[in-house]
Amino acid sequence: MIVVLLGAPGAGKGTQAAVLRERLGIPHVATGDLFRAAIRAATPVGLEAKAYMDAGELVPDGVTIRMLEDRLALPDAAAGAILDGFPRTAIQAEALDQFLEARGSRVDAALLIDVPADLLVERLSGRRVCQASGHPYHLELNPPRVTGVCDLDGSALVQRADDAPATVRARLAGTLGDLNDVVAHYRATGALRVVDGRQPIPAVSAGLLAVLDAGLRSMGLR
Ligand code: AP5
Repeated sequence: MIVVLLGAPGAGKGTQAAVLRERLGIPHVATGDLFRAAIRAATPVGLEAKAYMDAGELVPDGVTIRMLEDRLALPDAAAGAILDGFPRTAIQAEALDQFLEARGSRVDAALLIDVPADLLVERLSGRRVCQASGHPYHLELNPPRVTGVCDLDGSALVQRADDAPATVRARLAGTLGDLNDVVAHYRATGALRVVDGRQPIPAVSAGLLAVLDAGLRSMGLR
C-alpha cells in the first residue's frame, strides 16, 4: 500500500505520518529526512541538496527521484510506505506513478492536510525537532512532557536550520505552486482525499484515518 501525505511546509505531514505508520505497519519515508541524513553523512546527494535546502528551495527533481526510488527498493518497503514530502512537483508525481506501475503497484491514497498559509508560519517558527530522529514538537501547540527533551528518545530538541523566519517565508513562497500541481495530479487520478488540517493534532489524525479507511474500502482493499 502506498499512501502519499500532501501539505504545505508545516501542515503536519511528519506529525501525522508517525500516527499512520503505527496504524498501517508500513515505513514512513520522508524525503526531507533522507536529505538531512545525507547532509550529516556528507554524501554527494547531501552536498548537492544542502544549498537548496538552506535557501528554502526544492532540490532538483532528478536527484530527488533517484533517492526516493532507491529508498522504496529496500526490503522494508516491499509492502508499501507512507510518503511524506514526495512527490512535490508534477514531474515527481509522474515519475512515482511510472516507478510503481513497473512494480504492479500504484498510489492508493493521496491525503492532503489542508492548512491556510497564516497558520503555517506560526507552526514552523515554533517547531522544535529532536536531534536523534527529527521527531517534531511545537513550543506551544505540541510541547514535550519535559522542556527541551524528546518524549520518545530523550534527545535534545533543536530548531531546524530551515525554520528560521527568512527561510520559512522562502519555503512557503517557493513551494505552494508546485503543491497545487501535485494536488491536481491526484485529483485527476481519483486518489486525492482532503482533511482539514486546522484542527488539533488528534482530530487531524482521526480525519486522516477515516478518509483512508473509506478510500481503501471503496477500492476493495479493506
Ligand atoms: P521537509 O523536511 O519535507 O519539510 P517541509 O515540507 O517543508 O515540511 P515540514 O517538515 O517543514 O512540515 P510538516 O508538514 O512535516 O510539519 P510537522 O509535522 O513537522 O523538506 C525540507 C526541504 O528538503 C525542502 O524545503 C526541500 O529543500 C527539500 N525537499 C524535501 N523533499 C523534497 C522533494 N520531494 N523535492 C525537492 N526537494 C525536497 O509540523 C509542523 C509543526 O506544527 C510542528 O511544530 C508540529 O508540532 C505542529 N503541528 C503539526 N500538526 C499540528 C496541528 N494539527 N495543530 C497544531 N500544531 C501542529
